[in-house]
Amino acid sequence: MTSFQSLAALVDARLAAVFATLGLPAHLARAQTSDRPELGDLQCNGALAAARDARRPPRAIADDVARLLSEDDAFAEVSVAGPGFVNLRIANALLADRAAAMVDDAQLGIPDEGRGRLVVLDFGGPNVAKPLHVGHLRSLVLGESLRRIHGALGWRTHGDAHLGDWGLQMGMLSAAIRRRSPDLPYFHDDGGALPANAPVTVEELEKLYPEAAAACRADPGRMAEARADTAALQAGDPGLLALWQSLRALSLQAQVRDFDELGVVFDALDGESDVRDAVGPLVARLEASGVARRSEGALVIDVAEPEDATAMPPLLLEKSDGAALYATTDLATLEARATMPGLARVVYVVDQRQALHFAQVFRAAGKAGIGSGVELVHAGFGTVNGLDGKPFKTRAGGVARLSDLLDDAVARAEERVRESTEGAAMDERSRAALARQVGIGAVKFADLSGDRLSGYVFDVDRLVAFEGRTGPYLQYACVRLRSLLAKAGDATIGPVAPEADSERAVVLSCLGFGDAVAAAGRQYQPGIVADHAFDLAQRFSRFYADCAVLAEPDASVRAARLGLCMLVRRVLERSLDLLGIDVPERM
Ligand code: ARG
Repeated sequence: MTSFQSLAALVDARLAAVFATLGLPAHLARAQTSDRPELGDLQCNGALAAARDARRPPRAIADDVARLLSEDDAFAEVSVAGPGFVNLRIANALLADRAAAMVDDAQLGIPDEGRGRLVVLDFGGPNVAKPLHVGHLRSLVLGESLRRIHGALGWRTHGDAHLGDWGLQMGMLSAAIRRRSPDLPYFHDDGGALPANAPVTVEELEKLYPEAAAACRADPGRMAEARADTAALQAGDPGLLALWQSLRALSLQAQVRDFDELGVVFDALDGESDVRDAVGPLVARLEASGVARRSEGALVIDVAEPEDATAMPPLLLEKSDGAALYATTDLATLEARATMPGLARVVYVVDQRQALHFAQVFRAAGKAGIGSGVELVHAGFGTVNGLDGKPFKTRAGGVARLSDLLDDAVARAEERVRESTEGAAMDERSRAALARQVGIGAVKFADLSGDRLSGYVFDVDRLVAFEGRTGPYLQYACVRLRSLLAKAGDATIGPVAPEADSERAVVLSCLGFGDAVAAAGRQYQPGIVADHAFDLAQRFSRFYADCAVLAEPDASVRAARLGLCMLVRRVLERSLDLLGIDVPERM
């Protein structure tokens, strides 16, 4: 349990006391980072907002606020600017005090917001028989980071891949395999044992699926076969079940390799098929209770609300041929998850193009009383784009495989690493391992920084660069700090005591770390942590250029600066850990 009070919370508390004394509304007692750092560290704009109701000029209110605040030794300087902005410069003693509290806090000021509640993170979501492609990258990287951020904030986390393993694609596959090899035992159920190994290799499977899907689209006869197989599978045909099982296992093997490559950890590799027995009873119940209604033979749930700005079509629960749908499995899955003790939140990290689907599912769940009390969040994201600004494609115009994309980034990183480690005693294996850490870290950082809803351009040369807003820049900052601290040997590390402006800027950024993580968790935006880390690393470079550390002659100043380096190192390493980015030993 942390009793850490953040600098922002402390300043807001002081402001609140002053606003109360002056009879001003409490919600306006807020400080934010100053737009003009030369005037102060923080600014409070509350006087402007309070002026109308108080029927006083904002400047006069600001003067009152400033007068009372200047009696508080938390502030070294309080001034009023423009029409009524109150600028605050935090006293160095307070910065030192908060930094000391942060150094003592194993959580580095990250608040315990989860208080042991359970959050399910639904991310990844690959479909059987389809290799992971560029579209899965963001779900995996964002999902993994959100899992770590929730964990840091005191949530119990459960990451679930929610595999797409129970739809029409399974029938398409079995029908295609039957055409190729009609004699396979799966299609002649004589009660004998069925092979556990798939009748195809993973490479064949990955070719087979697009072929089968294209054939079904082109030929209604093929589609009818696929539908018939899907229905038979879902009705429990033992041969088709055995075939399905083996194909699922085969494609999962390849997918798990990609998860590992990305350092993504799942607590469960559950899928749509895990709720297959729950779908029928759920649909029947929703129909009987009147939540769902018949419409042209299909079963739907109306989810439109009067205040909707855009049309919200009904959720399709069951088609007229009785087949259950994507939304139906999501409802059944939520019902199953709702039995997990302490479940308070489910976060679906899925392409923003599925926003309508999730809006429908969440509303239908509300109407049906499924998972009531559980907060449901669709954390959508924009597309990964090519240099032309359109969704990323391979040179041949096809969907880019995730593993090819990562290999490409690692290859480019290897060129960079070769330059940076030239002349260093480093064997090829360590160099390859380093290139992997840098290449994957680069991809992850590019994917995580900024707003998740906007797409970004996958420009591999730019994202593996050691300079600029990149993952490697941050990794390098950590490596440099480690080596600096190693060089310090057993030189005394003292309490942080900021003096110089560049040094104060670093401390202020460190002190904002806990708030940044909390905001990232509340807004489902790992980018807030990424951007905070980048900003801190930049401030640190400025400080390091401006202030001597190891070469500082005054022993107590040197100790304080080493203390600051130590704190920055911890914050940056923790940031990268929350983003799922490795810190190399050297670079
Ligand atoms: N398999 C789905 C797809 O490829 C993604 C699954 C997302 N998660 C969910 N609970 N719907 O589009």
